[in-house]
Amino acid sequence: MTAKKIYEIGEIPQMGEVPDEMYAWVIREDRLGVPEKAMQIEKMPVQKPGKDEVLVMVMAVGINYNNVWASQGVPISVIGEDTGYHIGGSDASGIVWAIGDNVKRWKVGDEVIVHCNRDDGDDEECNGGEPMYSKSQRIYGYETNDGSFAQFTTVQSRQLLKKPVHLSWEESGCYTLTLATAYRMLFGHPPHALRPGMNVLVWGSSGGIGSMAVQICKAVGANAIGIVSDDDKIPFVEKLGAVGVLNRKKYECFGQLPDVKDPKEYSDFIKKCRVLGKDIWNITGKKDVDIVFEHPGESTFPVSCYLVKTGGMVVICAGTSGYNLTMDARYIWMRQKRIQGSHFANLYQANQANEMMIQKLINPLMSECFQWDQIPLAHTKMMNNQHLPGNMAALVQAKKTGMKSLNEIK
Ligand SMILES: NC(=O)c1ccc[n+]([C@@H]2O[C@H](COP(=O)([O-])OP(=O)(O)OC[C@H]3O[C@@H](n4cnc5c(N)ncnc54)[C@H](OP(=O)(O)O)[C@@H]3O)[C@@H](O)[C@H]2O)c1
Repeated sequence: MTAKKIYEIGEIPQMGEVPDEMYAWVIREDRLGVPEKAMQIEKMPVQKPGKDEVLVMVMAVGINYNNVWASQGVPISVIGEDTGYHIGGSDASGIVWAIGDNVKRWKVGDEVIVHCNRDDGDDEECNGGEPMYSKSQRIYGYETNDGSFAQFTTVQSRQLLKKPVHLSWEESGCYTLTLATAYRMLFGHPPHALRPGMNVLVWGSSGGIGSMAVQICKAVGANAIGIVSDDDKIPFVEKLGAVGVLNRKKYECFGQLPDVKDPKEYSDFIKKCRVLGKDIWNITGKKDVDIVFEHPGESTFPVSCYLVKTGGMVVICAGTSGYNLTMDARYIWMRQKRIQGSHFANLYQANQANEMMIQKLINPLMSECFQWDQIPLAHTKMMNNQHLPGNMAALVQAKKTGMKSLNEIK
């Protein structure tokens, strides 16, 4: 095949041949809004990898909440100030297409997945500390502007993980952000690290991160108590291994904490929290949960802080329902509860989480696989909470679903 300036979606160049341009889904300031308006296909230059970087030909991608926020410019616009664009996409599977001079661990042709933590590797936190605390830490495809919703993407060599051979491109491309986030939330904050027999309350347990948390609990021998908003989702979460699943629509203990100086309103709220607490006790055998896996935020945070056991941990990575979190501090100090923020994962944690996938202890739970031109639609579904349980994927250079390596595609 003669080299071309740009290849059509699904057209595979000769191994290692890098075209000048690529197709990408691009967000720009003047069209922020719903994903289908904000994201438009544009021809963009293919970036050459730096010394420690790798160019990946993207076979398939995962759909995450990141690009719902990015499309709307909420809570902040993530469009590059100097470049004027944002290409989203924080998950991908693909093939190493070119490598920088310093790259030793990967070679052209390796089949890989991308995790979304970037850092410059050059401070104390990245060398003996905690890379997620480095000032240079950024989420690729959200806090950086050249994500995976493109035919090619340039990533740091240390962003790559082995693609599980038993999974298709689309299955491989859809789980890393959610799995590694859940992994760090459950293992990354000792001494509150997941152990066999622990009870863990998992909000949104059929969603991206929640469904991974339930599976991790099951794999470790801990008890996940799942929460969903629809009885139809209950069998799905039970099948993942939750020991019990409750429908949050049956309870009224949500929203910000009422005014503690209004005794009637306050005691009504605590009574409503106890109704949920009692149903959890019915599952755990009258034990309070050791960990609450929090991400809805504003609407669930007060009850999460109330329900977690004395000395337990509420670990939170998001505020999907709002950021204005409230709690009764008396329960926090008297019962010595820990409130812990958590954000994605470092390379070690992402790799450990991926090992669980390679060992088939975790299912990627791909719910749907979209075509390249449906990537904005998939985000709109997520924005409207209309997506099926699990993780959504989309094809990029993989023409068909079910393909597991480049050899099958050629
Ligand atoms: N900091 C990080 O590193 C990081 C990483 C990944 C994701 N996140 C964030 O985590 C959040 C969840 O991500 P995801 O991929 O799991 O999204 P998702 O697939 O949409 O799942 C979220 C689930 O939350 C539940 N939910 C929504 N509103 C709720 C409410 N008011 N009260 C209780 N539950 C509610 C929904 O389940 P039900 O309706 O069935 O209850 C939904 O399925 C997003 O905000 C995302 O941006 C953060």
